[in-house]
Amino acid sequence: MTTRDARGRFITLEGIDGAGKSTHAAWIAQTLTARGHAVVATREPGGTPLGERLRGLLLQEPMTHDTEALLMFAARREHLEHVIRPALARGDVVLCDRFTDATWAYQGGGHGVDRGRIAALEDWIHGDLQPDVTLLFDVPTEISRARLARSAQAGRALDRFEREQAAFFERVRQGYLARAAADPRRFRTVDSSRPLTDVREHLAAILAEVA
Ligand code: TYD
Repeated sequence: MTTRDARGRFITLEGIDGAGKSTHAAWIAQTLTARGHAVVATREPGGTPLGERLRGLLLQEPMTHDTEALLMFAARREHLEHVIRPALARGDVVLCDRFTDATWAYQGGGHGVDRGRIAALEDWIHGDLQPDVTLLFDVPTEISRARLARSAQAGRALDRFEREQAAFFERVRQGYLARAAADPRRFRTVDSSRPLTDVREHLAAILAEVA
């Protein structure tokens, strides 16, 4: 057993809005539980009482792009302290719906926040801890936009990010793909434009390999 195995696995889910990540999150948690793991399923921004309040502000209130990045990391600091680190120390699997890759893709890629600043915040808040595995749900932006339009038509109010223009989502998507290409050992990219059963089959194979 290596030192790394002493703590639980840290698995994150990423992808542009409308990529289908949320559709699969509960199924992934169930599959990991069925494989015998104690699973802590959580999300960012959020995951703690304060983090959920910050999420409310982040998804609804207009703010500068820098403030957005700072609040994401403020919520993350609480989340790491109260949820993620204790769970990993217990040996649980932490399944986190979005983490710092989202800050790189959305605030960095989408909103142009200086990369050096994001790197400095990341180093400060969790320089010692990275996800073991990141599942990137990838889909062309036309498909994700069409999915969002359908939920809006069905009466769901879109949040501040979901209301962004197509070009924003394209930059976010490219941001994610660049991160995945730079760290192929950590990332597993899932083609989320395929039928649900195919996506699940791919996910099951990945989960059998990583946890
Ligand atoms: P999302 O995860 O898509 O939740 P839901 O499935 O309930 O809509 O919503 C979170 C939003 O927050 C999403 O638009 C991406 C954004 N976000 C960032 O911009 N930066 C971050 O660091 C994180 C964690 C999320």
